[in-house]
Amino acid sequence: MKNIYSNIFSYNKKSLNKTIVNLKNGNIVGLPTETVYGLAGNAYSTMSIKKIYKLKKRPQINPLIVHFFNYKSAQNDVILNEYFFKLYKKFCPGPITFILKRKIKSQVKPIVTANLNTIAVRFPSHRILRTILKNINFPLAMPSANVSSNVSPVRAEDVADEFKKRLKFIINGGNSKIGIESTVIDLTGKPTILRPGIIGPEIINKILKKKVNFIKNSSKIKSPGMLKKHYSPGIPIFLNQKPTEDQDAFITFGKKYKIKKNHFNLSRNSNLKEAASNLYRILRKIKKLKFKKIFVAAVPNKGPGIAINDRLIRAAKK
Ligand code: TXA
Ligand code: MG
Repeated sequence: MKNIYSNIFSYNKKSLNKTIVNLKNGNIVGLPTETVYGLAGNAYSTMSIKKIYKLKKRPQINPLIVHFFNYKSAQNDVILNEYFFKLYKKFCPGPITFILKRKIKSQVKPIVTANLNTIAVRFPSHRILRTILKNINFPLAMPSANVSSNVSPVRAEDVADEFKKRLKFIINGGNSKIGIESTVIDLTGKPTILRPGIIGPEIINKILKKKVNFIKNSSKIKSPGMLKKHYSPGIPIFLNQKPTEDQDAFITFGKKYKIKKNHFNLSRNSNLKEAASNLYRILRKIKKLKFKKIFVAAVPNKGPGIAINDRLIRAAKK
C-alpha cells in the first residue's frame, strides 16, 4: 500500500540514524513499543520534554515514564530494590513500569516527573526501540502518542492521525502487539498496582510471594491523571449493555454474538489477551465509521480483562 503519510518512515539504517540525530538534537519522534506507540524525547533535556507536553496538550502535573535499555542504564537515576529485581528478572524487557525513588544525582529533569521524588521506569521489549535505546546515552521520556485524554495509538497511522503535520517524524514498527499500556506498579513502599495491564496482579503476587495492593478509582490516587476521563474516542460509551438500534456500534466478546455491520468483536475465541490487543484499534475504527454511540458487552474481569475494563470505565466517564 502507498504511504500517504509523509511523516511516517519505515525502519531501516537511514531512518534509525535520523531518529538518533533527532533525539540528540532535542526533537521529539513517534516510536513503536510493544504496548502502544509513544512520543519520545530526551529525559535529560528540559527543552525536549517541554515539546512533548505541548504537543500532547498534557497537564504538567501528570508525569512521564522514562524508558531505559536495561537496569544498568537506570541505576544512576533510581534506587533499585529487591521487589524490582524479582519483577525485572521475570518480565523485562516487557510491558511493566516501576515507580522507584529518584537518586539525588539523577539527571532526569524535574519536568519529566512533575517534580515528584519518584521516577516511573520501563524497559520496553520492541526490537526497534531497543536498538534506538542502545545507541543513545540518555533515556527516553515517552508518553503514549495521543493528544491527552484520547485513545492510545497502536499503529504508526494512528500517531499521524493524532498530531497531523505537527509531528515531523514517526517510525513505523507495525501494530503494537499488546495493544494496551504497561502495568504501572509502585515499589517505593508496599507494592501497589497504579494502572492494570497485561501483566496482572495474580502473576505479580506469585513472583513477589505477597499480595500487591490495588489502587481502584479512589480519590487517593498517587498518580495524577489516573482519575480523569481517559482513553476516550470522543463518542458516548455505555458499558454492559446492548444497543437498541442498529445504527449504534456494539463491541462484543465471544462466539455467542452475531456477525453484523455494527458489531465489533474483541475476540471470538473469548481470549482476553487478544481482546486487549484489539480494543484501541476497534475504538478508532468505530470513530472513523462515524458511529454516534458505542455499547459494550460484558468482558470478564480477570487477567487482562481487568485492564480492559479499567480502560473502558475511564473511556465511558462523562
Ligand atoms: O505502555 C506504556 O507505558 C506507554 C508506552 C509508550 O511506553 N506509555 C504510557 O505513558 O502509557 P503515559 O504517559 O500515557 O502514562 C504514564 C502513566 C500516567 O498515568 C502517569 O500518571 C503515571 O504513568 N506516572 C508516571 N510517572 C509517575 C510517578 N513518578 N508516580 C506515579 N505515577 C506516574
Ligand atoms: Mg497515555
